Amino acid sequence: MTGLVSLVGAGPGDPDLLTRKAARRLAEADLVLYDALVDPAVLELAGAAQRFYVGKRAGRHHVTQEQIHRMMIRAAQAGSRVVRLKGGDPFVFGRGGEEALALARAGIAFEVVPGVSSSVAAPALAGIPVTHRGMSTGFVVVAGHAEAAWQPALDSLAPGALTVVVLMGLGHRAAIAARLLERGWSARTPAAIVWAASRAEGSTWRGTLRELATTEVEAGAGTPSEAAPGTIVIGEAPAASHPLTAAGGSR
Ligand SMILES: C[S@@+](CC[C@H](N)C(=O)[O-])C[C@H]1O[C@@H](n2cnc3c(N)ncnc32)[C@H](O)[C@@H]1O
Repeated sequence: MTGLVSLVGAGPGDPDLLTRKAARRLAEADLVLYDALVDPAVLELAGAAQRFYVGKRAGRHHVTQEQIHRMMIRAAQAGSRVVRLKGGDPFVFGRGGEEALALARAGIAFEVVPGVSSSVAAPALAGIPVTHRGMSTGFVVVAGHAEAAWQPALDSLAPGALTVVVLMGLGHRAAIAARLLERGWSARTPAAIVWAASRAEGSTWRGTLRELATTEVEAGAGTPSEAAPGTIVIGEAPAASHPLTAAGGSR
């Protein structure tokens, strides 16, 4: 008898932003393998399941990607219902694709339960539409953790053509903004950073591309902790949010 592995998106944090299917899979699970950005309130939905932290954040035991694959495969072969729980959507910078391949190669039954990705949820919760008629006809999502990841993608864009959403980019914020300015983006292009969207400690900074490149960015409402995840949004669309009253970060 073999079990099932569900690669489940946990959304940006607030359990109310989980899909019904994600909540059902959690309630039925025998084993939950979860990542760093999964909110404890989401884990509470896991009922009696065994829970293992397999995240890669500093200061905690590091489980390799291969070990995660082996844990999922062994548990499924023993007949368990496994939930591999990841922040946001499992296929958006979540290594869900690699895990799906490993499961397929091992002949394990698996499914993908999409989640609400922070790439759209973080801007939306701060009242920022990533597309807006007459301002932005599309958006691009890039990984900001390494220059090799973001620079080619950003260099391929015509200045101001699309809204740019950067995940994992807080450390390279100034370099990313400076590169866009070098490529001809207007210094007045609106920019925002949304920290810990949908969580109680959430906050938003709003400014311009020039400020993102040069000034010490401070949170609008409270100072986010070092560990708070943040999403950067650059483009004309953030300006469209001004009439909206959506409060980023409140549950
Ligand atoms: C490894 S990526 C995973 C993305 C995830 N799979 C998704 O679809 O949202 C982690 C990055 O997502 C962003 N992020 C995750 N949760 C967030 C939140 N609640 N608020 C703002 N940004 C968030 C941050 O940029 C963080 O560095």
